[in-house]
Amino acid sequence: MNHFEVRRGELWCEDTPLAAIAEAVGTPAYVYSTATLERHYTVFRDAFAPREVLVAYAVKANSNLSVLKTLAALGAGADTVSEGEVRRALAAGVPPSRIVFSGVGKTDDELAFALDVGVAEINIESEPEMDRLAAVAESKDMRAPIAIRVNPDVGAGGHAKIATGKTEDKFGVSLSEAERLYAKASNSASLKPLGVACHIGSQITDLAPLEAAFTKMRALVERLRLAGHSVRRLDLGGGLGVPYFNMPDPPPPAALAEVVDRVMAGLDIELAFEPGRLIVANAGVLLSRVIHVHRRPEGRAFLVLDAAMNDLIRPAMYDAYHDIRPVKAPAPGAALELYDVVGPICETGDTFTRDRSLPPLAAGDLVAFMSAGAYGSAMSSEYNTRPLVPEVLVRGDQFAVVRPRPTYDEMLAREPMAPWL
Ligand code: LLP
Repeated sequence: MNHFEVRRGELWCEDTPLAAIAEAVGTPAYVYSTATLERHYTVFRDAFAPREVLVAYAVKANSNLSVLKTLAALGAGADTVSEGEVRRALAAGVPPSRIVFSGVGKTDDELAFALDVGVAEINIESEPEMDRLAAVAESKDMRAPIAIRVNPDVGAGGHAKIATGKTEDKFGVSLSEAERLYAKASNSASLKPLGVACHIGSQITDLAPLEAAFTKMRALVERLRLAGHSVRRLDLGGGLGVPYFNMPDPPPPAALAEVVDRVMAGLDIELAFEPGRLIVANAGVLLSRVIHVHRRPEGRAFLVLDAAMNDLIRPAMYDAYHDIRPVKAPAPGAALELYDVVGPICETGDTFTRDRSLPPLAAGDLVAFMSAGAYGSAMSSEYNTRPLVPEVLVRGDQFAVVRPRPTYDEMLAREPMAPWL
């Protein structure tokens, strides 16, 4: 459920017409709905009630400070993967006690920073990383709170590039290695093992692989406890998918919670989750204007938009399909036309979709890419020297620009000329 709907013949975000935002801010622009962010976060959290779980929102999905602050105000934690993301989470008011620091290649400097600010848990992905963290913590005379990230060898995810749970993927250590590393960490004066973690992929639309992974994780916790270790926390990652375009609805958080309850029945442990996409995807759209329609006499019609792959790279990168809706609702019964929807960037990869049935569109019309709140602006760039796409947050009938579009002067000023030129 989200708060983008047609009212009086056009698409609104909450109580604000998208056309008014396009008028004020220009296009392309991302638009986020506060009510949808809040709803998704609370539905996820409440699915596990009465269990109190740590919902560490995966900052990478959408790291805008206003988005983070909206979630932090509801009590969200943060799953972070770089010093930059930790800094964002702190700046948005997420307490360090709810920050998890993950990632396969955290540098010594980043680990030292995480220790200094007191993050709750550093997810260790390999032995060399654990050894480096132990050395950094020792040099500060501290004990680093860690969880071992396990790669449970279960494949899942909407695309090979976002599956993370198989042995051949770079993430985490095997179940047996986890036992060895846990024991090693328990014997270290500078490490404090809190628990174990897994995250097997993203855009997962089937609960079976999650259940398989969770079952392996429970057995691991039991083996570790049997061996005399204290295991306080189990971090089950993120990954639950969202409906994009022409697909059945993926299982809701309640169905995930039901699996968790069944698999974890009788196990006394703190649970943590790291959802990203599920919280923000359907809370955001990418608003774009039609530059023109190029009809080839031979047949194809190219809908050329002012948004491009630098603004939304998911179709080019993961063959993703986003629903594309005209902002002005078509006349009832309007015949549909087939369009190849493209951006202005100079490569064929800059094609959002081919042969998409849409109502007739013309230069100047607005369209919205739906479900673009996750991994949209967060992955945007200035390729082709296109200004970084702005972001707008809506709350009821108010909206605010929460990341402005840079001016060309600002963009050029970021690059000092080499002194010999
Ligand atoms: N935790 C860890 C350790 C992760 O690596 C990720 C995502 C998450 C949590 C959040 O997963 P989510 O709940 O959002 O599925 N750019 C890609 C998605 C990459 C996901 C990377 N890891 C896309 O646009 O589909």
